[in-house]
Amino acid sequence: MTYRIAPSILSADFARLGQEVREVIAAGADWIHFDVMDNHYVPNLTFGPMICSALKPHALTPGGQAVPIDVHLMVQPVDALAAAFAQAGADLISFHPDASAHAHRSVQAIKAAGCQVGLSFNPGQPLDVLDWLIEDIDLILIMSVNPGFGGQSFIDSALRKIEQARRRIEASGKDIRLEVDGGIKADNIARVAAAGADTFVAGSAIFGRPDYKAVIDSMRAQLAAGA
Ligand code: DX5
Ligand code: ZN
Repeated sequence: MTYRIAPSILSADFARLGQEVREVIAAGADWIHFDVMDNHYVPNLTFGPMICSALKPHALTPGGQAVPIDVHLMVQPVDALAAAFAQAGADLISFHPDASAHAHRSVQAIKAAGCQVGLSFNPGQPLDVLDWLIEDIDLILIMSVNPGFGGQSFIDSALRKIEQARRRIEASGKDIRLEVDGGIKADNIARVAAAGADTFVAGSAIFGRPDYKAVIDSMRAQLAAGA
């Protein structure tokens, strides 16, 4: 199983975001996770497509390889902002199907814009729409906190939902990433992987810590030990 660590810039130092992105990539991050919030769908306001454009040139490995920008839209409505983030250089765009009037059309529009597309599910949200959308998506994003803020505690019922999502992916026969977002730490990441996740968003566990590489290395060690 290929595991991916996707640090969320929500917990980064907003006074030096470009440097933070370069540093966390040098520390071993696989994706950079952008938590986009509109103070309408969720009770917080973060940033728009301009930040994505500004950070795109910094999303590079020390060797100059592009690092995927993984945009998580916690916004309603979805389509116009999704198009703007695609234009701004997003590689993957996930949205909450309950935030779109026509989730299938939103999926099609994101793919037509040249991005990979994901669906994100809040703790109280069932996976039912996957009955009709799983063939069209590249990523499932399971929220293990109620969206809006970093630094919250992991909601254990997410483990059951991850298991269910993994079963759906296996039944689909498609190579779909299973990403989990919220309350991920070195001391619970193995349990989340055991439930079936392969991609891990972590904000406060990484940013604000003195040594990003030490945290990411410890997460990878936990994943390797649990494998
Ligand atoms: C929704 C955000 C947070 C963030 C992760 O509130 O999506 O889940 O990315 O924050 P931590 O890792 O600090 O829980
Ligand atoms: Zn997120």
